[in-house]
Order: sequence, then structure tokens, then C-alpha cells
Amino acid sequence: MSSSVAATEASGSLDSSTVVTDQVDVEALAEVYRRVHANDLHLVDHQVPTARERLRWTAEAAGFEAALGYVDGRLVGTVMGCPLPPETLWWRDLTATDDPDLAVEWAGRTFAVCEAFVLPEFRRHRLGLRMTTDLLARRREERVALAVAETNTRVWHALQRVGFDHVGDLVPFPGWRPHRMLVRALPLNTR
Ligand SMILES: CC(C)(COP(=O)(O)OP(=O)(O)OC[C@H]1O[C@@H](n2cnc3c(N)ncnc32)[C@H](O)[C@@H]1OP(=O)(O)O)[C@@H](O)C(=O)NCCC(=O)NCCS
Repeated sequence: MSSSVAATEASGSLDSSTVVTDQVDVEALAEVYRRVHANDLHLVDHQVPTARERLRWTAEAAGFEAALGYVDGRLVGTVMGCPLPPETLWWRDLTATDDPDLAVEWAGRTFAVCEAFVLPEFRRHRLGLRMTTDLLARRREERVALAVAETNTRVWHALQRVGFDHVGDLVPFPGWRPHRMLVRALPLNTR
């Protein structure tokens, strides 16, 4: 087990901290997830597989790590993921790309951010960015990848502003909305 308090910061009226760890409470995270997506829980995206299942798969993956966000000691969000193994299905059915190597994985190539969420009442205090930065600062992979629903334009625009490239689209699980796949070179200070 490893964990570290990455940062404590008074941001506006928020007394928040982030912790990077490989040990998480899946039930507590699933509860936060349900509140984050309360208006969309009817979508297949949030039901099959269930958020609890997805969180558990990620938390049990080899090399898993999470940044957890706390406000006044209460869990309010996470950014979490794992390295992609060579046999990953992560890129399956990606729309055409002109880079033949894009979907080829080798040990140490890609860290996948599988979940990223913050409770609505604590957004726009840079907690999402802090968790992302704190988590990725410790990673030694060559690049980071994440999928964002095509309809989630605010988030994928924000990611493109911080250097992520849109490399193609895919449907992560049957019946989900199409997602944009975004990739950025690591370490974060490389461009
Ligand atoms: C995306 C989200 C985690 C950002 O949390 P936050 O604490 O408000 O983030 P910040 O205050 O650091 O925001 C800085 C910007 O970077 C974006 N951002 C930060 N971290 C992000 C991450 N890991 N993934 C995607 N976008 C991120 C934010 O959307 C924001 O853009 P904006 O100001 O144009 O809206 C939050 O809005 C959320 O939980 N949304 C609902 C779930 C979701 O869409 N998750 C992303 C799917 S990958």
C-alpha cells in the first residue's frame, strides 16, 4: 500500500486536500459517483456495467492509482486509472486513425484515466485539475489517455486546452454514448 498527501490548499472558501493512493473505498466512491451523475443515472453509460463494478475493476487493476479529493475531510471526488497492459481492449473499435501505432500497447506506454469526477457543489475550484496533476506527476508512462462522452463538450474542450489530442472515437461498452478518445504525452510539463 502507498499513499501520500499531495497537496492541501485553501482555494477560495474551500479547505481542500488531495491524496494519491493505491487503496480506495469503492463503496464511498460509488456514492459520490451517484451524486455526480444523479441526473443521468438512467443512461446505459451509468448502469451497464454499474459504477460500482467499474470502480472495482479499476481499483483492482495492476498498477492502479487514484488521486482523491477531500473538502473539510469529506471525500468529494477522484481522478483514477491504471496502466494499459499490452492485451488491453481499451482501443477496441476506435474509429479510423492515421497513426498505425496509436493502439499498440507495451509495458510503460499508457496510463489510462478511467474515472474523473467531483461533486457539483465543489467544482470550478481547480480540484479536478489538481487531482489530475498530482496523479500524473507520479506516473512514469509515456502518455495518458482518457475517454469523454461526445456530449460532454465542456470537458473535452478543457482537456484540449491543456494539450490533449482528440485521436478518434469509440463506444466504450455496448449501448453507451459515443466517446472521444483523448491522448497527451507525459510528463505533463513536456509541452
Ligand atoms: C470534469 C470535472 C471532474 C472537473 O472538476 P473540477 O474540480 O470542476 O475541475 P477544475 O476546477 O480543476 O476545472 C478546470 C477545467 O479543467 C477541466 N478538467 C479538470 N480536470 C479534468 C479531468 N480529470 N477530466 C476532464 N476535465 C477536467 C474542467 O472541466 C474545467 O474546465 P472548465 O473550467 O472549462 O469547465 C467535473 O466537472 C465533473 O465531475 N464533471 C462530471 C463528470 C465528468 O464529466 N467527468 C469527466 C469524464 S472524463
